[in-house]
Amino acid sequence: MNELVGDDLTAPCVDGVERRYLSLDAAASTGALPAVAARVQEFLPWYSSIHRGAGWKSQLATGAYEDARSAFAAHAGREGTDDIAIICRNTTEAINHLAYRLALRPDDVVVTTVVEHHANLLPWGRHAQRRYVECDTTGTFEVDAVTSALDRDPRPRLLAITGASNVTGWVPPLDEIIIAAHDRGVPVLVDAAQVAPHRPLPPDADYLAWSGHKMYAPFGAGVLVGPRAVLEDMEIASVTSFLWVVVIFTVLQSLFAPFLAKVTARNASALLGAVGLLSTFLALLIAATVSDGLTISGASTWLYASLIVWLVTMLATLLIPLILVKMGVQAARDRRD
Ligand SMILES: Cc1ncc(COP(=O)(O)O)c(C=O)c1O
Repeated sequence: MNELVGDDLTAPCVDGVERRYLSLDAAASTGALPAVAARVQEFLPWYSSIHRGAGWKSQLATGAYEDARSAFAAHAGREGTDDIAIICRNTTEAINHLAYRLALRPDDVVVTTVVEHHANLLPWGRHAQRRYVECDTTGTFEVDAVTSALDRDPRPRLLAITGASNVTGWVPPLDEIIIAAHDRGVPVLVDAAQVAPHRPLPPDADYLAWSGHKMYAPFGAGVLVGPRAVLEDMEIASVTSFLWVVVIFTVLQSLFAPFLAKVTARNASALLGAVGLLSTFLALLIAATVSDGLTISGASTWLYASLIVWLVTMLATLLIPLILVKMGVQAARDRRD
């Protein structure tokens, strides 16, 4: 039996002779294992929408998808932990996803190394500053080189390091490096694209990313494994509820505006009106940022601050008239008595 699907293929050589094809590019994409190809074939008739249908096929496909998620987590040794596996298209997408989830700021630092694949370099350059661990003349580095990069100021937000070089096959001393990073309070992403098909994954890495198409699975899927608290879809629901609060309070405020003008001193009413307007504008800005694809977790501090200003002003514009009215009623009662 063939070890991989396609092992018996032949290809025309430069001398025109057909010879058995030997793929030397398995680090880029492997052939499929016959057992995996058979399972895919078996499943295809049941292929259906995931998490989007009530039909039998859809339920079955959803179950299979969730089983795959558990299998990814198990491969990473994360059973019984609060880690989750997010299924992506490949390692590149998984690392980009993490870069987005971490809500990095432009001046944040990510320590990475000069032996990385582009997939573990470009996302960090797009979202933050990269600080590199350099190689020595053998094309490798020691733990000390990593710790001295970790120890420089400002303290890095992440160490993003490969599990095995895609160029030389060198495997860095990951366990020691992860311990050193954790001692300094720095979480670690291991780009496991080249290591996942061959070796157990480092149990203490905070994040792991790898690809199915490099480990004998046809068509390819990738995964990002990490703590649920960071990776779970941030409260889109709470963003939506927040937007509803913005709308309801703004409508209430405009309904109360004429009443407010009557019962408060003219200056106070003008001031509250101006602050109310400004804060509504800021709230709408938050709404625009959120609808732009940023979740609340990705919003910057000043947006949070503007949310608080907006809420306080809105409450004040609604409560002050009520308090004044109540005081007026009490004063009239006192006069009558
Ligand atoms: C070490 C390493 N990281 C990341 C990648 C990117 O993987 P993918 O193309 O599956 O996104 C590769 C691909 O060769 C790789 O070797």
